[in-house]
Amino acid sequence: MFIPMLDNRSDLEKPFTDPGMWQCSICAHENDTSNLSCELCGVLRDLSLYFNNISETEAGAKRRNKYSGVSVLARSLFAPSSTKSKAIIFSDGSQDNRNATGNKQATMDALHKTYMPSKKRHINIVPFKFDTPSPDDMVTTGLKSSRNFRKAVQIKDSVDATGKKMMDSGILQTEKDTSMDPCTSAEVDKLGGTSSSVPSSNQQVTPILDHELQHLSLESKPKSSKPKIKKPASISEYKPEPWMLQSEDQEIRRQLNLAIVGHVDSGKSTLCGRLLHALGLISKKQMHKYEKEAKEKGKGSFAYAWAMDDSTDERERGITMTVAVKYFDTEKYHVVLLDSPGHKDFVPNMISGATQADAAILVVDASVGSFEAGMGVNGIGQTKEHSQLIRSFGVENLIVAVNKMDMVEHSKDRFNFVKLQLGIFLRSCGFKDSSITWVPLSAMANENLVTAASDSRLLSWYNGNCLLKSIDSLPPPHRDVSRPLRLPICDIIASITLGQVAVCGKVEAGGIRTGSKVLVMPSGDLATVKTIERDSSSCNLARAGDNIAVGLQGLDPGHLVSGGVICHPDFPVHVASRLELKILVLEITTPILVGLQFELHIHHARVSASLVKILSLLDQKTGKASKKMPRLLTARQAAVVDVKLDKEVCVEEFSALKALGRAFLRSGGNTVAVGIVTRILDEAKV
Ligand code: GTP
Ligand code: MG
Repeated sequence: MFIPMLDNRSDLEKPFTDPGMWQCSICAHENDTSNLSCELCGVLRDLSLYFNNISETEAGAKRRNKYSGVSVLARSLFAPSSTKSKAIIFSDGSQDNRNATGNKQATMDALHKTYMPSKKRHINIVPFKFDTPSPDDMVTTGLKSSRNFRKAVQIKDSVDATGKKMMDSGILQTEKDTSMDPCTSAEVDKLGGTSSSVPSSNQQVTPILDHELQHLSLESKPKSSKPKIKKPASISEYKPEPWMLQSEDQEIRRQLNLAIVGHVDSGKSTLCGRLLHALGLISKKQMHKYEKEAKEKGKGSFAYAWAMDDSTDERERGITMTVAVKYFDTEKYHVVLLDSPGHKDFVPNMISGATQADAAILVVDASVGSFEAGMGVNGIGQTKEHSQLIRSFGVENLIVAVNKMDMVEHSKDRFNFVKLQLGIFLRSCGFKDSSITWVPLSAMANENLVTAASDSRLLSWYNGNCLLKSIDSLPPPHRDVSRPLRLPICDIIASITLGQVAVCGKVEAGGIRTGSKVLVMPSGDLATVKTIERDSSSCNLARAGDNIAVGLQGLDPGHLVSGGVICHPDFPVHVASRLELKILVLEITTPILVGLQFELHIHHARVSASLVKILSLLDQKTGKASKKMPRLLTARQAAVVDVKLDKEVCVEEFSALKALGRAFLRSGGNTVAVGIVTRILDEAKV
């Protein structure tokens, strides 16, 4: 197998007849010489750009790292577009423009009041069960996934930031399934607990409500008349409406979806809780309650994490299982904080939340041994896996929060060691040096979070931005309003009492307005947008980039599935049952064989799939086919493959809409390959 030398990047650029152009080695698209990366697929013209800034001391490590597992195609999949970074001046200590979420409570629309009294909005992925096999296990052991969508009612006691206790009674939160049964493997309960010892949220479900919910089956086919879809119009006929094109400066604060990712126990939830507390978004009374309860459970150090981890399971085990969502404001942004689980078993949940991210904070634990664990001394650590994943989601801008600096005496040497080691890996994933901000901090000690560092040991060598300023300095996310509406459904909330349903997710393209008609895919139902809630406040419209909850009317809630897509009525998303993917195999020990069953993730969709054919192996130097129909793939190989899905999935080709054309292959509890959709081979009739 040929593995390219990283310092021979000029080979990527093939000679081309027109001297004013260069040809992409992956997709053969002809690009203007002013483009640093291919405008079609994002492949870098010259990857040596990534390595120009590496100092001599790093050079040895760079050479050692040349087989680091993410090669030319990885960079092509993760290649950044040219986003310019704007620094901003941040007025230290000013609280005026930091909105307290509590203030917004009063303006929430009825839908939100009814459905989500808790200020915490969890993206409820299927709850973790320690006594059932993980989806990945089921795939690898050849078990067929259940096609029955699980239904659950959650009645949660919740406490808002002002300390007011609220009961979500009468609220039905349908837990979507994915085509899989809930996680997870019997592996590691890090506290040694078992699911039987701790009642899961499902076990608390009121049977009567559960019964009532039966009619909300998410699996059933639409009973209402079909088809509602007109003949799809050509995308070239689409013209964005004027309200979608509202100029950027008319927006007071832009929404920034910020994923918090990193290895288990690196301090992600503590960091989020501390940040919210420092910004005045968690009251003293509430914090006192967290501290008291955490102490009683023998988990005093998790008090701040409890602001994010609010389920019994999460608190008992001291780990995050689902993605928690909170909000805060900086001077420039309204930040949607997506706190991901770090535990290996919850990578599917992490994917579902972080796939919405515009930027990310990668939290690493600086303590000796812990950083190394995240980097995967024994197998792949989640510092690496999460970095690869978020880059492949299209995230270009990254803040690396080097946490727990108090554990290493705020040592400059340790910080530099982490920066050097991790920096090499991040570059190999396709992050640009200029798009990475490194911030040493201690979440627990509130050091360098919202104000400049105060510890003299840290001050002696660090005078950069604190975390909050670094967030505010992130470049604004790109919003694609030039294409028709695409809102992939992350979560579904239904109320049988009101007969209404709401869906949550990030608008990936176009815009949506109250009163307008939308097409719900894959069912093909038409629905009317009754309400839109953006950042816990009701509003009349939302555009690409916004993370919203949409109240829909006129359709059977049972026709909604997570992984479905809300579309413009005239421009439906594709619904595919067979796909051609261009993939890059990650560090795997067992080869990928034709016939392999795996779990495929595309935006919020998660389905069982099988590898029908490996169409061609790609030469990593040129991106051209080097071998037809190989029987297997090994680590770091790139290939074009044909995959058959057990269930139809809403998808776009990567060249049409990146967010809906990225795919992740998982097997045996690991991400085995990342890729892009190059062709839809079989399209389902909707
Ligand atoms: P998962 O969500 O399960 O992946 O964990 P996490 O990354 O959210 O970590 P969490 O916030 O739950 O914290 C894990 C442990 O690290 C807790 O005991 C925290 O008290 C501790 N911790 C977090 N930040 C710091 C820090 O800055 N210094 C020290 N000493 N401990 C910290
Ligand atoms: Mg956590």
